[in-house]
Amino acid sequence: MSAIPTRSPVPPRKTQRLRLDAYRPEDRDAFLGLVLDPRVMARVDGPADRDAALALFARICGESGEPGEPECMAWAVFEHDTYVGHVFLVWIDVDPEIGFVFAPAAWGRGLATEAAGEVLAFARDSLGLARLTASVDLQHAASRRVLEKIGLHRVAQEQDRDGAYLRYAWQAGDCP
Ligand SMILES: CC(C)(COP(=O)(O)OP(=O)(O)OC[C@H]1O[C@@H](n2cnc3c(N)ncnc32)[C@H](O)[C@@H]1OP(=O)(O)O)[C@@H](O)C(=O)NCCC(=O)NCCS
Repeated sequence: MSAIPTRSPVPPRKTQRLRLDAYRPEDRDAFLGLVLDPRVMARVDGPADRDAALALFARICGESGEPGEPECMAWAVFEHDTYVGHVFLVWIDVDPEIGFVFAPAAWGRGLATEAAGEVLAFARDSLGLARLTASVDLQHAASRRVLEKIGLHRVAQEQDRDGAYLRYAWQAGDCP
């Protein structure tokens, strides 16, 4: 079991345009709207239905969690006061994975890059992590581009029951 505090509130972060906050109960409907939007989840392994999304939200808020579930830290991302996305770190293997999901209305303006870059900086500077990974659908050009812009690079092509995907990684000493 890792020593990373999963269910304690995550520290807030700020970027030029965005506020990254710990989730609050009142963010629930916005979160459900995001992760149950088929346009958003087309290439993401997300909750299968509303009940699964509610369970995930409870876990993100630290209200529940089964022993053995992967630890995670998740930020609700706001532009002004509008919820625009979700960025997380999850400890499935030894090295944590970074992930991000943004609302279609926010796509194409560099917001995912800005928020994910901030979480990578937090992982490096505050958690002292030396390596981060990500997995992404082979055909998912936008997500691959975000990973590359924040400093991850492609390390492997892997296969699971859903098909081929790419593994990306960042390690201390890489840019930025
Ligand atoms: C992937 C996602 C997070 C990108 O969000 P975003 O805010 O639009 O990302 P950004 O604007 O920061 O950067 C996107 C980059 O991809 C590029 N891009 C977008 N679509 C592309 C395409 N079809 N082909 C090539 N590049 C593409 C953009 O041009 C931009 O790169 P640039 O700055 O060099 O021009 C967003 O589309 C999303 O949430 N999708 C659904 C959830 C998801 O798939 N998450 C990733 C799981 S691994």
